[in-house]
Amino acid sequence: MARKVQFVETVLRDANQSLIATRLPYEKFEPILQTIDQAGYYAVECWGGATFDVCLRYLNEDPWERLRKIRAKVPNTKLQMLLRGQNVLGYAHYPDDFVKLFVKKAVDNGMDIIRIFDALNDVNNLKVAMEATVNAGAIASGTISYTTSPVHTHKKYVQMVKELKEMGASTICIKDMAGIMGPQEAYDMVSAIKDAVPGMPIDLHTHSTTGLAFMTYLKAVEAGVDIIDTAISPFSGGTSQPATETLAYALRQLGYQVDLNDEATKKIADHFKVVRDQFVADGTLMPKSMATDTQCLTYQIPGGMLSNLLSQLKQMNALDRFDEALAETPKVRADMGYPPLVTPTSQMVGVQAVTNVLQGERYKKVSKEIKAYCRGEYGRTPAPIDPEVRKKILGDEQPIAGRYADTLEPVVEKTREKLGDLAKCDEDVLSYIAFPNLAEKFLEERKAREENVATYSIVECG
Ligand code: CO
Repeated sequence: MARKVQFVETVLRDANQSLIATRLPYEKFEPILQTIDQAGYYAVECWGGATFDVCLRYLNEDPWERLRKIRAKVPNTKLQMLLRGQNVLGYAHYPDDFVKLFVKKAVDNGMDIIRIFDALNDVNNLKVAMEATVNAGAIASGTISYTTSPVHTHKKYVQMVKELKEMGASTICIKDMAGIMGPQEAYDMVSAIKDAVPGMPIDLHTHSTTGLAFMTYLKAVEAGVDIIDTAISPFSGGTSQPATETLAYALRQLGYQVDLNDEATKKIADHFKVVRDQFVADGTLMPKSMATDTQCLTYQIPGGMLSNLLSQLKQMNALDRFDEALAETPKVRADMGYPPLVTPTSQMVGVQAVTNVLQGERYKKVSKEIKAYCRGEYGRTPAPIDPEVRKKILGDEQPIAGRYADTLEPVVEKTREKLGDLAKCDEDVLSYIAFPNLAEKFLEERKAREENVATYSIVECG
């Protein structure tokens, strides 16, 4: 019998985030949700990542309400979110009580699959979120942030998969956030994991940035990958995922079973073509995001980081130092113990490389984030931090030995009391802890609106 390959549709989250900076408001996809539910996807990635932040910051939407509305219109297909381990949806570590309640509420509000990753692949940063997911009855998808370095071997990745399985992962995601994984690497890595942990479903996530993605998925499927992440064609390609319909077509031709409903995917594509054209017209979707960029392969750093380096140097009137900053980046990364370059490590390493070059002396100045990183506040680094560099940055201060979150005081109860009647439910409290300024503004405005229409306004929290 033909082997089945399943699809995760990313248009509502990663494609939206990668191509149009997550600016898709709920109304623009609401009319097509029921069709998405009938399309036969394994899951729809629709929440987490930057969606939460952008809902509050730019779209004046309650992210929790968005999730409940999606759930109501997509009752049959699994909903998936992306969670940054102990960072949840932010950039620093949170106390455990927040992580646990956040995960529980995400599941209560309709989430089925929580894909949990850590920028350093430190499993200690995944443990609490993984446990909370399993306890809430949802699917914990343990995630590897994919990168290459002398210390990132298949043996290590396989070891990580075993640890994630121990923690309750029922699927594994290989997350190639920069789109730098080549077809042979995909084949070898998927094969290595399948050999070592048979029966564990593997999902491969990549981006079309470098143009490798179709080939990478094909070889991963040959090696036995179970699930691939794709975007409906009008929101595919470039910095997004490769196209859903194209992969369905090619994989069927090669004899694999694909359970997508072509009529439904056509309707979804027709809907998002119109949406895409609106974002092209208003300049939100830029041609640059749709282009193939092979520079990331040459430098082995994500595309987003290259453009950050450029804009940083431009601001400092030092564009002529670009080549030096570029050469310095892998050196800083090596000094820091080869972190995968993903939020927030990519920003930290990039800024430090530029600073080292412009100061004319390495690590003369360092950001407070790099300092915290050297103190161990982001977790265990893949390789040890260069001892001399660490000494220069920390002096005689000793890095913390255990898990940073163990040093943090619980925050939920305290915040609940502080917010009083501004928060109507735990979801409001969680939004506030995650993004205090944005949530406060949002909650104040909501309160003001309600006072105006006090006679019939009911805010639902579920
Ligand atoms: Co991605």
